[in-house]
Amino acid sequence: MLKTVSEALILAESELKDAFPEAKREGLYILGYALGWPITKLIAYPDYTLTEAEYSFFTSVLQRRKVGEPFAYIKKSKSFWDLELELDASVLIPRPETELLIETILSIDLSENAKLLDLGTGSGAIAISLAAHQPDWTISATDMSERALGVAKKNADNYQLQNIHFQLGNWYEGIVDKFDVIVSNPPYISPDSEYLKLGDVRFEPITALVSAKNGLADLEHIILNAPKHIKLDGYLLVEHGYDQSERVKELFSQAGFTDIQTLQDIQGLDRVTFGRYPSL
Ligand SMILES: C[S@@+](CC[C@H](N)C(=O)[O-])C[C@H]1O[C@@H](n2cnc3c(N)ncnc32)[C@H](O)[C@@H]1O
Repeated sequence: MLKTVSEALILAESELKDAFPEAKREGLYILGYALGWPITKLIAYPDYTLTEAEYSFFTSVLQRRKVGEPFAYIKKSKSFWDLELELDASVLIPRPETELLIETILSIDLSENAKLLDLGTGSGAIAISLAAHQPDWTISATDMSERALGVAKKNADNYQLQNIHFQLGNWYEGIVDKFDVIVSNPPYISPDSEYLKLGDVRFEPITALVSAKNGLADLEHIILNAPKHIKLDGYLLVEHGYDQSERVKELFSQAGFTDIQTLQDIQGLDRVTFGRYPSL
């Protein structure tokens, strides 16, 4: 039987209440997405009756969300920095805390034609934000996932960016250039972490999330091998877990970096460490 907006919202809330503490708000997002309406319009037109096609699409989205599928994968897009990125389940959903990497890089006094390397680009969130902001920078973006690179290339095309080069490979594999900045948000979750059983994460690619050695194996590889690929006076910035900053700083120091600093995310948690490769 067809339903009005207000009946559809009641249905959504009752279907979602066991899985989501904010079931009412989730219902608004889902119905808004299904109808292509802003939430204000849902509130303004509670008596609108959904067509058969609208109701059927709404219930299919509701069922996907009920089993926990992330809204970003259902919508196939996510806002990041000042962009709207296309996504599929082959890439990590870009997180707001990763914007700290962008903010920090944009605050460094780099040359107009700087060269940057984004390791593990996923949807392209970091590379594309930087390339869009600084059209004269040249950015190399790598990933070991061919599907992820496909998503990243699509996003770069959507923003008509010509200054990113995509490369398939295992971290520095095939990288011959030297860079002013190397940046990475690598997998850094321990394989036995309880976090992997919660929320959106359950649907994300495990290869984007998990790293051996308590989550530190990829960070270790990226940091210790950075000096071979970084220009003197260049910067390395990595995102990491809130409890990994001490070990990450030791690795930066072991690799020969100076001016090592850890920055906190919007929740006040250690999230980004960066350092400078010393000039002679
Ligand atoms: C945490 S995700 C970050 C994605 C994106 N940079 C972001 O911040 O939203 C890590 C990315 O690293 C990639 N990755 C994992 N292991 C890799 C490896 N050995 N070599 C290259 N990329 C790798 C994954 O495919 C994934 O896209």
